Amino acid sequence: MSTKPVRIAVTGAAGQVSYALLYRIASGEMLGKDQPVILQLLELPNEKAQAALKGVMMELEDCAFPLLYGMEAHSDPAVAFKDTEYALLVGSRPRGPGMERTELLAANAQIFTAQGKALDAVASRNVKVLVVGNPANTNAWIAMQSAPSLPRENFTAMLRLDHNRALSQLAARMGKPVSLIKCLAVWGNHSSTMYPDYRFASMEGESVKDIINDDAWYKDVFLPTVAKRGAAIIEARGQSSAGSAATAVIDHMRDWVMGTQGRWVTMGVPSNGEYDIPKNVVFGYPVTCSGGKYTIVEGLKFDDEFSQDRIERTLAELISEQDAVKHLL
Ligand code: NAD
Ligand code: LMR
Repeated sequence: MSTKPVRIAVTGAAGQVSYALLYRIASGEMLGKDQPVILQLLELPNEKAQAALKGVMMELEDCAFPLLYGMEAHSDPAVAFKDTEYALLVGSRPRGPGMERTELLAANAQIFTAQGKALDAVASRNVKVLVVGNPANTNAWIAMQSAPSLPRENFTAMLRLDHNRALSQLAARMGKPVSLIKCLAVWGNHSSTMYPDYRFASMEGESVKDIINDDAWYKDVFLPTVAKRGAAIIEARGQSSAGSAATAVIDHMRDWVMGTQGRWVTMGVPSNGEYDIPKNVVFGYPVTCSGGKYTIVEGLKFDDEFSQDRIERTLAELISEQDAVKHLL
């Protein structure tokens, strides 16, 4: 057992995603059952947020997790991110009923500029960053731009929830377990313009597209169900997804750190021009992970108008989000 604990910063630590997440990190689900952790928890400085954070920490303490070597409560990112090797940027303002994600851009741009600068100043030089707070892709782009001394590729955004949602919808349609589906991709923005793409997916060696063989279902049911799932959960619960979001965080980080053994997963990562996406746009791509690094799956063909159009639409949204906040950086 490796006895050296790693430092994990979590922002928005008293919020509902973190409430579903922190216990699972502390129990070893994210980095493995032999990896001790120290949680560096960031919340807003106001009394209510800090009191709620204290309550969460009391509960974590009451779990007596053997891997939880320490916990700290913070209100300043420049302290919370000190030497952190993993930064899970969850805290931001969540979307309410009927609200579009783009409305959150300006408020969150300020948060992610400040946090990017703080990471740049004090985090481990190898810190792996996952942005969950929406609009996640653009917030990750802002944090990355605000941290010029850290490796660009270490800034990622969460599209794993979309990937998991797409997997479950396909599995249910085929009446098969999720685990049998391979090579699914979700392209673009974590928003309703995302493109969940089953053209390359297979199940036990057969094409998922051929097994389902129903283009109308794919376009009129599957795509809108996955793309609007976040909004549907908000309508149903009155609050945005939390348990499924926390599961996606665990999946994203575990796979990034421990590898996918050739399996494709979806991560929002800064482009290097792959698939003609402009450099640095944080875009959902199919990736494989090994040795603590992710690699974008390359060479997939976009030779039909529908897929081209979907990619262009989600890219256009990301570019317009960037344009809306550029002046704030
Ligand atoms: P929440 O309101 O329950 O919790 C957010 C917490 O962040 C609050 O406790 C708040 O005090 C804190 N916070 C706000 N600004 C902060 C800052 N500058 N520094 C530190 N803490 C700060 O919200 P939630 O339901 O936990 O959702 C958190 C975010 O995650 C939202 O933006 C939501 O839209 C997003 N989300 C993304 C995905 C995804 O798939 N990418 C999925 C679910 C939720
Ligand atoms: C989700 O996908 O559930 C979250 O991003 C919440 C939202 O605003 O859609």
